[in-house]
Amino acid sequence: SIVRHYQFNVEKKSISRLCSSKPIITVNGKFPGPTLYAMEDDIVIVKVVNHVQDNVTIHWHGVRQIRTGWADGPGYITQCPIQTGQSYVYNFTLTGQRGTLLWHAHINWQRATVHGAIVILPKRGVPYPFPKPDKEEIIILGEWWKSDVEVVINRAMKSGIAPNVSDAHTINGLPGPAPNCTSKGYTLHVESGKTYLLRIVNAGLNEELFFKIAGHQLTVVEVDACYTKPFKTDTIFIGPGQTTNALLTANQKFGKFIITLSPFMDTIVATDNQTATGIIRYKGTLAFSPTSLTTIPPRNATPMMINFMDSLRSLNSPKYPAKVPLSVDHSLLLAIGIGVNPCATCVNGSRVVAGINNITFVMPSTALLQAHYYGISGVYTDDFPANPPTPYNYTGNPPANMQTNNGTKVYRLTYNSTVQIVLQGTSMVAPESHPTHLHGFNFYVVGNGIGNYDPVNDPKKFNLVDPVERNTISVPTGGWAAIRFRADNPGVWFLHCHLEVHTTWGLKMAFLVENGKGPNQSILPPPIDLPKC
Ligand code: C2O
Repeated sequence: SIVRHYQFNVEKKSISRLCSSKPIITVNGKFPGPTLYAMEDDIVIVKVVNHVQDNVTIHWHGVRQIRTGWADGPGYITQCPIQTGQSYVYNFTLTGQRGTLLWHAHINWQRATVHGAIVILPKRGVPYPFPKPDKEEIIILGEWWKSDVEVVINRAMKSGIAPNVSDAHTINGLPGPAPNCTSKGYTLHVESGKTYLLRIVNAGLNEELFFKIAGHQLTVVEVDACYTKPFKTDTIFIGPGQTTNALLTANQKFGKFIITLSPFMDTIVATDNQTATGIIRYKGTLAFSPTSLTTIPPRNATPMMINFMDSLRSLNSPKYPAKVPLSVDHSLLLAIGIGVNPCATCVNGSRVVAGINNITFVMPSTALLQAHYYGISGVYTDDFPANPPTPYNYTGNPPANMQTNNGTKVYRLTYNSTVQIVLQGTSMVAPESHPTHLHGFNFYVVGNGIGNYDPVNDPKKFNLVDPVERNTISVPTGGWAAIRFRADNPGVWFLHCHLEVHTTWGLKMAFLVENGKGPNQSILPPPIDLPKC
């Protein structure tokens, strides 16, 4: 393994999209930000320097951070933010990990513009478990907001109502041709007969997406940096925080083929029918030749989404075995959804909130990991409930009381215990899909379904052989997903909906994994430059 050094200068840069320009927060002046390249088992050292007025933290989404929670990045969970003029060195090892991941800011809504891809190649001499592509291409999906996103969410929080959606989706930072001003979309130049590995990253704030290419099928080979059994599809479903590697074979002779990026069932109040487009262009295609088009999946295509998720299986080969926990030490049912709390100063006298088991997580003012490591009391309590307070028909008619309680609570796990979490979507205000992300671990998705989870019959149908392994799971709209993992990473680990608006509303909690008693089973000491709150 070798050591990779990077410097991330967080700085403002004026960027022009949709016919106007505005200053945005960037890393090294780029939107999307720079790609972090490494190989399996490498040590990565990134010096992040804050040149902007806002507080900054960077999260390496999907990097396991074994015993190095200090480098994980979520603000006030594992570290205090890097303040203006300050810097912090993230130092971590990519132990046993390869594939595509993403890095992004993890404070407020900063990740709207502060994000990029992480590409971890297999160790030297180790091939991919699929035919070697001729070329690789990173495709970052995002959003473009005409307004300042922090203004958008602050105003929404004040009023108690949901914020707007973005003004456009983007492919590698480009929304596609905009009417009334000359702007180009993203183009991938291909050669007939060649195969391309697309490393697709959803770095958007608030939308799960469908990705399609006219006239071509894609072969999915990896999600969230875990190999899958290859499967062919014409539509990729990808939630924020998720990554998908897919092979594209350029099996046409000539031509231009549209790429479409369209939203899946976004926020309840706002509707979003924006589609970003790009082009696959074959070498030798004449400029005036027409572009082949494709149909766009309907915004509420839940069956399509579930079908895609059900097609994902871990590779589970002798080289890459699935290590699904077969027994469960900690079993949790987390009801996740939107609620409504009274609010005297809000526009409607109420505010939209979100919660897990009726708890709206309140951010602490000291990082949880610091409080845990140094034994600072009064920052959190460890009584996060394993079950909803009063079981109800989660996906049926909403209960009379849709209120939540505030709390900064963690759930305690013993080192190396096995954990099962059933993420149960609720229809409190309206059912919505929640792309739920767990820091510090990969988990196996052993089951999912529509409606209420049935603790007697559903486990009988769990896939404990080759379930997909990942770090972010889209819980089906009005349904549930069951995940399992081994708590072999001591520290404090965030779990939250990766739709940023839901995170802000409180759909988040943390696990506290205790140190083990053996050697190499405790949290490493914090770096000396760890920011203070
Ligand atoms: Cu990609 Cu806690 O986030």
